[in-house]
Amino acid sequence: MTSIHFVCVLTIVNAVLSASYFTAEIKTNTRPIIGVLAQEVYNPQPGRNSYIAASYVKFLESAGARVVPVIINKSDEENTRLFKSINGVLFPGGGVSIETSGYSRAAALFYRLALEANSKGDYFPILGICLGFEQLTLLTSSQLLLSHTNTSGVALPLNFTDETRDSQLFKDFPDDLMKSLASESLTENSHQWSLTTANFTKSERLKKFYRVLSTNTDGQNEFVSTVEAYEFPIYGTQWHPEKNAFEWTRPYIPHTPSAIKTTFYTAQFFVNEARKNLHTFGSTEEEQKALIYNYNPVYTGTESSFEQKYFFD
Ligand SMILES: *[C@@H]1O[C@H](CO)[C@@H](O)[C@H](O)[C@H]1NC(C)=O
Ligand SMILES: *[C@@H]1O[C@H](CO)[C@@H](O)[C@H](O)[C@H]1NC(C)=O
Ligand SMILES: *[C@@H]1O[C@H](CO)[C@@H](O)[C@H](O)[C@H]1NC(C)=O
Ligand SMILES: *[C@@H]1O[C@H](CO)[C@@H](O)[C@H](O)[C@H]1NC(C)=O
Repeated sequence: MTSIHFVCVLTIVNAVLSASYFTAEIKTNTRPIIGVLAQEVYNPQPGRNSYIAASYVKFLESAGARVVPVIINKSDEENTRLFKSINGVLFPGGGVSIETSGYSRAAALFYRLALEANSKGDYFPILGICLGFEQLTLLTSSQLLLSHTNTSGVALPLNFTDETRDSQLFKDFPDDLMKSLASESLTENSHQWSLTTANFTKSERLKKFYRVLSTNTDGQNEFVSTVEAYEFPIYGTQWHPEKNAFEWTRPYIPHTPSAIKTTFYTAQFFVNEARKNLHTFGSTEEEQKALIYNYNPVYTGTESSFEQKYFFD
C-alpha cells in the first residue's frame, strides 16, 4: 500500500515539474509564416520570370502556416531582412541549376543565415524537397556528388534505416502510417539525379551533418531518400510529400488514404518546427505586403505537371 502511494505522489510531482518546465522553456508561435523559394521558369515571358508550384503553398497552409514567396534575384540585404521576418523556409523541387540559378543563390543565403541563427539559439528550420534536397546536400558538402538514376516518375516505399526510431521528422507519424510507408509505394520520386548511399558515405561533411532516415533504389543504385541534420532543424526528402494531396496530372502520384496522410503528417511536422521560431515582420503592413495572398495561382495543369503555379516578375 505505502509503496503504491509513494509512486503516485512521485508521478504527480513529475507531472507538475515537467508542466512548468515546458511552459517556461517553450514558447509556441501559433501564427507561423514560411518562405517558399521561387525559381526561374524555362521560357520567361513578361510577368512570368519565376514561379512557385501552388502545391507547396497548399502543403504548408494545410498544417496551419501562411506562406511568403522568396522571389529570386533580390538583394542579399532584402533577403536577410525577410529571413528575420519569417519562421522557416522551404526549398521546393523543380528544374533549375543548384550551382548558378537565382534559386541556388537565395538557397545559399538562407542556408548560411539559418546555420548562424541556429548556432545562436534562434531556431530556424529548413525543408528541402527533391531539388531542394539536392541543393541542401551541395550546400553542406560543397561538392557535386549526384549520380544519374532511373527515378523520373515512380512511387516507392521508403527503406527506413535504424536511425528512424530516434528521428525528429518521423517521431509523430502514427505506427500504421510508418508501416504503410515501409511497405506501400507512397512516396513519389521525380528526379534524374540522386545522392547514392556510396557517395554519401564517402563525404565526411555529409556523414557528420546528416542522419540518414531512409534509402531507396532504382534497381541499380541505392540512394539516400530522407535526411535530417544532427545539430540543426534541417530536413530533406528526395521524394515529394506535397504531391500526394495536391497534384493530379501524373498517373504515378499516389492518392490512397495513407498517401494523403503522408502529405499531412510531413506538413504538420515542418510547420510545428516553424512554430518554434519567433521572428516577426516589422509591421502588419509589411507582413501583408509579403504574403502570397497578393498573388493569384494560375491553372497550368493542361500544359505542365503542376496543377497550379504562382508566377512572379
Ligand atoms: C536571376 O539572375 C540570373 C543571373 O544571375 C539570370 O540568369 C536569371 O534570369 C534571373 N532570374 C530572374 C527571374 O530574374
Ligand atoms: C558519385 O557517384 C558517381 C557514380 O554514380 C561517380 O561517378 C562519382 O565520381 C561519385 N562522386 C564521388 C565524389 O565519389
Ligand atoms: C526505369 O525504371 C522503370 C520502372 O520505374 C522501368 O520500367 C524501366 O525499365 C527502367 N529503365 C531502365 C533503363 O532501367
Ligand atoms: C534496404 O536497405 C538495406 C541497407 O542498405 C539493404 O540491405 C536492403 O536490401 C534494402 N531493402 C530494399 C527493399 O531495398
